[in-house]
Amino acid sequence: MISTHQIRCTGCAASVSGDRIPANFRCADCGSLFEIVYPWSVGGLAGAGAVSAPNPSALRWLWQERRTSSLAIDQSGVWRFRDLLPIVQNTDHITTLREGNTPLYDLPRAAKALGIHWILAKHQGMNPTGSFKDTGMTAALSVAVERGFQWVACASTGNTSAAMAAYAARAGLRSIVFIPEGKIAWGKLSQSMDYGALTVQLRTDFDGCVKMVNELVMTHPIYLLNSVNPYRLEGQKTPAFELLEQMDWQVPEHVIVPGGNLANSSALAKGFAEMKQLGMIARMPRISIIQAAGANPLYRSMQENGGTELTPVKADTRATAIRIGDPASWRKAVAALQSTGGWCEEVSEQEIALAKAQIGAEGIGCEPASAVTLAGLKKLVADGRVGTEERAVLILTGLNLKDSDYTIKYHRGELLTVEEEAEASVSERAMHSQLRKPPVVLDANLDSILRTLDEQMAVPV
Ligand code: F0G
Repeated sequence: MISTHQIRCTGCAASVSGDRIPANFRCADCGSLFEIVYPWSVGGLAGAGAVSAPNPSALRWLWQERRTSSLAIDQSGVWRFRDLLPIVQNTDHITTLREGNTPLYDLPRAAKALGIHWILAKHQGMNPTGSFKDTGMTAALSVAVERGFQWVACASTGNTSAAMAAYAARAGLRSIVFIPEGKIAWGKLSQSMDYGALTVQLRTDFDGCVKMVNELVMTHPIYLLNSVNPYRLEGQKTPAFELLEQMDWQVPEHVIVPGGNLANSSALAKGFAEMKQLGMIARMPRISIIQAAGANPLYRSMQENGGTELTPVKADTRATAIRIGDPASWRKAVAALQSTGGWCEEVSEQEIALAKAQIGAEGIGCEPASAVTLAGLKKLVADGRVGTEERAVLILTGLNLKDSDYTIKYHRGELLTVEEEAEASVSERAMHSQLRKPPVVLDANLDSILRTLDEQMAVPV
């Protein structure tokens, strides 16, 4: 694979070469983040000259063919699309856990409850470490291997650290993760230990962890794997390709993503924009971003000044994955909203809990941060921004097992405060009581089991 990319600053448009990029992935002149561009990219590549774009029908055929291959990089749902992410010179440097190739489900009960024809869910929690981070990690970690790094690092609310630790272990690299003490789900914490990372719990929040890791990488030869690393986004754009493939190249009207550090929304927007640029689709879906009301700096920024400025907030939500007050990639997220015509919404803790239970009851499940998508879709449907016949795809970013503590507390009725419960409407309250399935403790005799079963049979489904 010939690496033909350039790295361009999203602020001042300056280009840098791979080995000259600052270790914190911030432009030395203007402080903005970078993006990867190719000769055929939207906006072109300065000095590239005439370069023929990849042929759409040949690509479609090739991507399907690779699914039946026994080669690891063909089986990967990221590297299967490697023609559109030529970021490493030597494919031997690619570290893959066969990420991607995640299912696209429908959510018929949630759609019915919402009064719309259909809702689809692209389940990125069905990746090797249980979150969408794997698609980005395989890309950026492979670059770290090619550049000869021995150590990689990230700050994380839990999923990035799990993914980084796993891919670093596969590649034989060492990893150090910074996580906010006591603020991440146990499933995620256990993963970084299991995969052998040096796990550092800092007495601060995620935003404080980011500051520390940035200082560290500026002074030590350690490769930063947070989503400010533009190579991460090259992997994270591929679910857009896969989704279109799964929909027979029809474009959904809406794609709904959770917003935390605010990189994934722009990665998906880049993927769709590249598909359009190459003539594989005729239009873009609207990409909407949903934040938890307790961690809503982008929502506030869009409301207050149309996304021109962002004031950090002190973040607090039980959806710990997106408990972020000072998101690094907010300008990229604003660009994704504006270029696709999407919206930013906020949802309450009660709304998140209900949406998560609904997704669970579909036999699919997801972690709390992913459930904001369904909660947000309800708001978009309520005021007609999403029409009853339009297709909305929720990006479910993480697996339900990541945070089983949250799920158990919800079903036992121990999650929400009295005040939060009181915010629910009459119909929401009815849904909560229908969805809550606390475990039943019985004596081990058939009579008591049958009595309980009889009671349950009397409850309408
Ligand atoms: N959903 C989940 C499950 C996440 O783990 C994250 C981010 C997001 C959504 C938000 O994505 O940051 O691109 O807007 N988790 C990061 C982490 C911050 O450290 O695992 P984003």
